[in-house]
Amino acid sequence: MADSRKSVAVPDFSIRRFPDPLLKQPTRRVDRVDDRIRALIDAMVRTMRHHPRCVGLAAPQVGRGLRIAVMDASRHPKAAASLGLLVLVNPQILEREGSLLQREGCLSVPDFTGNVPRASRVRLATWDRAGSAMELELEGFEAVIAQHEVDHLDGTLFLDRVANLATDVFKRKTYL
Ligand code: NI
Repeated sequence: MADSRKSVAVPDFSIRRFPDPLLKQPTRRVDRVDDRIRALIDAMVRTMRHHPRCVGLAAPQVGRGLRIAVMDASRHPKAAASLGLLVLVNPQILEREGSLLQREGCLSVPDFTGNVPRASRVRLATWDRAGSAMELELEGFEAVIAQHEVDHLDGTLFLDRVANLATDVFKRKTYL
């Protein structure tokens, strides 16, 4: 018999939370995008979508030390124009321009948000889900997400980026 509960998304992974040491370690480059890597990517996308406010997820957050992240700014009202789902394999930021300060949160730091200085535009070299090399130009909220996720891949959390832990970090209200 079909189980109606299957329509309720169940995350594939539990989320590693600060101070899990894996979150502070740089990740390994992916040599080749094969079926195993694609399965990981797809599971990360499902996990991101399971969490209502989540607009990006990096492999270390799900316990994998690989240079892979997924993001989707279209899930958030802040994204005026968005490219939708982006799969980042071996992403590298080539150029940063401008600056903005924006409140960020992270599934791995669930109790806090912080005002984080970021570039307002980035140019990024990456592979996509097919393993094809591409370049992306992102701005505003999408550029911020990409910088946050690439930071995860370098072992950096938004808490490491705030100018002042006393004045730029805020306790989140508890929510279910
Ligand atoms: Ni994060």
